[in-house]
Amino acid sequence: MCGITGYIGDNESASILSAGLKNLEYRGYDSAGIALIGDDVTVHKQEGTIDGLTIPSNADATHGIGHTRWSTHGEPTDENAHPHTDCSGDVAVVHNGIISNYHELKEELSGHIFESETDTEVIPHLIEEAIADGADLRAAVMRALDCLEGSFAIAATHVDHKGIVAARQDSPLVIGHGDEGMYLGSDVTAFVEYTRQVSFLEDGDVAHLYDDEIEIFNDGERVTREVQTVDWDASAAGKAGHDHYMHKEIHEQPTALRQAISGRVDELAGNASLNINLDDEFLHTIDEIHIVACGTSYHAGLYAKELIEPLVDISVRVDLASEYEVYDGHDAQNTLVVAVTQSGETADTLSAIRRAKAPGMTTFAVTNTVGSTITREVDDSLFIKAGPEIGVAATKTFVSQVTALALFATYLGRLRGTISAGEGADILENVRQLPSAVQTILDEEPQIQRLADQYSDSEAFFFIGRGLAQPVALESALKLKEISYAHAEGFAAGELKHGPLALVTENTPVLAFLNQSASPEETRNNVKEVESRGAPVIGLSTDGADESFCRHTIDIPELGRLEPLVANVALQLFAYHVANEMGRPIDKPRNLAKSVTVE
Ligand code: AGP
Repeated sequence: MCGITGYIGDNESASILSAGLKNLEYRGYDSAGIALIGDDVTVHKQEGTIDGLTIPSNADATHGIGHTRWSTHGEPTDENAHPHTDCSGDVAVVHNGIISNYHELKEELSGHIFESETDTEVIPHLIEEAIADGADLRAAVMRALDCLEGSFAIAATHVDHKGIVAARQDSPLVIGHGDEGMYLGSDVTAFVEYTRQVSFLEDGDVAHLYDDEIEIFNDGERVTREVQTVDWDASAAGKAGHDHYMHKEIHEQPTALRQAISGRVDELAGNASLNINLDDEFLHTIDEIHIVACGTSYHAGLYAKELIEPLVDISVRVDLASEYEVYDGHDAQNTLVVAVTQSGETADTLSAIRRAKAPGMTTFAVTNTVGSTITREVDDSLFIKAGPEIGVAATKTFVSQVTALALFATYLGRLRGTISAGEGADILENVRQLPSAVQTILDEEPQIQRLADQYSDSEAFFFIGRGLAQPVALESALKLKEISYAHAEGFAAGELKHGPLALVTENTPVLAFLNQSASPEETRNNVKEVESRGAPVIGLSTDGADESFCRHTIDIPELGRLEPLVANVALQLFAYHVANEMGRPIDKPRNLAKSVTVE
């Protein structure tokens, strides 16, 4: 996730901005930079670590902006690092989020010189045009914002115009009120050692920080935002006030999902806009898809199979990457091999892709990491745009992977004519509602925590589901076992009676997916089987339908094919609180690494 820092005040800005960049390191980044505004604008930026960035002191520059970048558009390079400037070099801009209509804007700005591949760079050029028409910086930023679609937080400066103008739309931005100046941050972490007096901007806000003043506007009206005192110390701030990165990342899911979806949903056409470079003719004629992945990404692949097969009418095979083999005689020309990998560096997945390429199969990656090894080896990539994930347990990347694959399934279905525009629009409507549905679950955290505390010393935990919920049952069990070390297993609900039922006792909670989309009637029969053996059942069900039926229920909003994905968020929280109650080192579980780069 990119980070923004800014300062305007009595002191030299260079050292304050450098400290801000350091504070934002925890968000993960691949490049960083700052713009110092004094008699002129000096930009220092480069790919790589902040330690490698040389920022000379500049006593004239008492304001400036800085940025840590996590690539979404364009490789991690010096040119693509922020801040970005206009043709004259007088305007400097940093940006978090995605400008979904930047292609169109770039075409409209055809006389301008662009130096990067980023979506961000259109913003300084739009500001440049407005200033050339006589606008001041604030008016110029407002005019630029009117042209932008997507989610963003930005900060902009101009050498001849006073102050910093900042704006937010679906991406956080905080102002710090200090004794010796005003600060800007994508979160409080950016400036927590200077002040704890903060105001959180709201969507649509445009804030102008100049002299000792802050003026905030929303929808043309002057507004005020409450000044609050945060009580974090600097070390807690790295996790934005959460005790663990995993907890923070679970709570980041609505934002991550908005980023995954932004600019990719064309509900009118009932289609996903994915900018895929694979040939349409090829995608039209393939008769098989192979998905290769490991761990949580494998579970996302299993979910994708359940989405793609009925929508695209094509056979999908999902393999653990380490087990993937292609046999002689396989029709390599008509197969698409999809690698699902958060990191893009997993050795087993890379090796599976190399095995697929040998007989000439076309390869495609669904990944979170721009510039990763896999993106250099496959024919094309689709980025899930979840932002960096630091906790070893994958949470927001699983949800974003499945979402990106749901968009891909819609795209293929529309391309091959197996679903109508209306059917496509229905799926996309579910995708659009996903961030708020996930938020509903996050709001239920106190209830989920109580259940986790109550059952944390159980002998084992079982997760059961059917259809789309089966991969989620496997994923929920993996999450719980990897961070709590408790025995946890996921099963296809119908399989219980074929063996695993022998493990069920009054000390083995069973977490059952009873969502509408997951054949709840049959699963209810399985719930009866385990309840009659004394097992406490926690049912994940739509609209409280099973309250009288299960010992406990967690309500899941109705969301068609994506309902089990929302239910998964409840079980991420359950796993987190069980492990926390057990005192486990949640972000770094024993024996595990975030990215497994050995076969
Ligand atoms: C799950 O919480 C793990 N972190 C692990 O299973 C992970 O999903 C697996 O190692 C694959 O990683 P990748 O997505 O980076 O390829």
